[in-house]
Amino acid sequence: MTSKEIRQSFKDFFASKDHQVVPSAPMVIKDDPTLMFTNAGMNQFKDIILGNAPVKYPRVADSQKCLRVSGKHNDLEEVGHDTYHHTMFEMLGNWSFGDYFKKEAIAWAWEYLVEVLKLDPDRLYATVFEGSPEEKLERDNEAAGYWQHYLPNERIIDGNKKDNFWEMGDTGPCGPCSEIHIDIRSEEERAKVDGLLLVNQSHPQVIEIWNLVFMQYNRKADGSLEPLPAKVIDTGMGFERLTMAVQGKTSNYDTDVFQPIIAKIGEITGVAYGNDTRKDIAKRVIADHIRTIAFSITDGQLPSNAKAGYVIRRILRRAVRYGYTFLNMHDAFMHKLVPTLIDVMGDAYPELEVQKTLIEKVIKEEENAFLRTLETGIRLLDKEIAEHKGSDRNELEGGIAFQLYDTFGFPLDLTELILREHGMSVDHKGFNVEMQKQKERARNAAAVETGDWVKVRDGGTEFVGYDETECETQVIRYRKVKQGILPGCPFQVAVLCRNGRPDRR
Ligand code: GLY
Repeated sequence: MTSKEIRQSFKDFFASKDHQVVPSAPMVIKDDPTLMFTNAGMNQFKDIILGNAPVKYPRVADSQKCLRVSGKHNDLEEVGHDTYHHTMFEMLGNWSFGDYFKKEAIAWAWEYLVEVLKLDPDRLYATVFEGSPEEKLERDNEAAGYWQHYLPNERIIDGNKKDNFWEMGDTGPCGPCSEIHIDIRSEEERAKVDGLLLVNQSHPQVIEIWNLVFMQYNRKADGSLEPLPAKVIDTGMGFERLTMAVQGKTSNYDTDVFQPIIAKIGEITGVAYGNDTRKDIAKRVIADHIRTIAFSITDGQLPSNAKAGYVIRRILRRAVRYGYTFLNMHDAFMHKLVPTLIDVMGDAYPELEVQKTLIEKVIKEEENAFLRTLETGIRLLDKEIAEHKGSDRNELEGGIAFQLYDTFGFPLDLTELILREHGMSVDHKGFNVEMQKQKERARNAAAVETGDWVKVRDGGTEFVGYDETECETQVIRYRKVKQGILPGCPFQVAVLCRNGRPDRR
């Protein structure tokens, strides 16, 4: 099956079980102060789950654009280095709001994977929540009981709170969960080591594909759990991982979700995939990050210097630097990947095609802006790294990291990433001190101390800027200021000019 067919088959399957298939919510969140980006399919249903909004459809399914780069769920460091984590990914999910619960959720998950997608049942494992005495929560015997209809006991594995109690964030809906893991290793590998021993051990080929969350609580700000008004099923399946399993690949990047993008990077850079580990990582990072950036732009989040915009800028700069250092890309190139991305994902997410020109333009401008300072910054950093290598210090001074940030546009995490490649780190304390000093300077610069206005002649000011770019004027009043708007000018002046024409009186 192609990835497009897999996505569609999921929607069709749950539609056949009376689910309303709804569109993905935007990946960028504007109305929830606890979250910058959609990090799970359930985000758009949070108010329904908490009982603050009416249930429109008791059963829902979708494919949701998610981003995990900040907060409780953050996979950024793994991306590109491993084969199965992403910044942006699609989450296939089904929900029940006070309708069916564990029995059907488990039965349908099994039916979809084994009967529709024909995944080998011998390669599947389920985990269940082992309980938590400190939270006064018991083992999920109910879920374990349902799994016994499909799996032998030894492949139903107890998991702790970290793995088997899912929470949206520090507050909000949560509950015990049951994860489905799949072993995609070769028969030979499987004969050597039992997959059972590799579940939840960060093995790249024994991985979680689907999480069935049995939402029962709301985590409050004081850390306590309060029962939800109704029980909810909230499932999330990583589309890219599922595609890897169905297509018989061992890396998400080898599926048809990523291969066309990786091939296009190869065409642009002239560097083949699969010959050099560091170049391959760079390509995977770029193939991953272009999705995040393009989808953020379509959802209205442009790269900027603050909050969500800075997250996107950081991701873009990270990708540009991978291209620069490992693929020798010294000119803007990422924007050229947009048409290929549209070929791969445009039918499921038509907003990409609609906003193609904007996406390309924004990415190109961002690339060029960073490339203007990247080389000088890299040279400075290389010099520092070389000097540190000759000494026993492996921490870059905070002041240098700050200079890279402030003058050369290096996000701190990018500097850290480069340093890590050389076994070094950053003095965070020193960096924060410099950041604080700069904030002080900005505050002082913004504070304008003024004297009293001195009147020269009568008259009000008149704005002529719509029609004129230059005109002669007369000063009608002025005052002395400590910090003027123009450097070196200690006065603020109010001027008169009539009808855009100089008043020569
Ligand atoms: N809400 C389920 C998950 O994100 O895994």
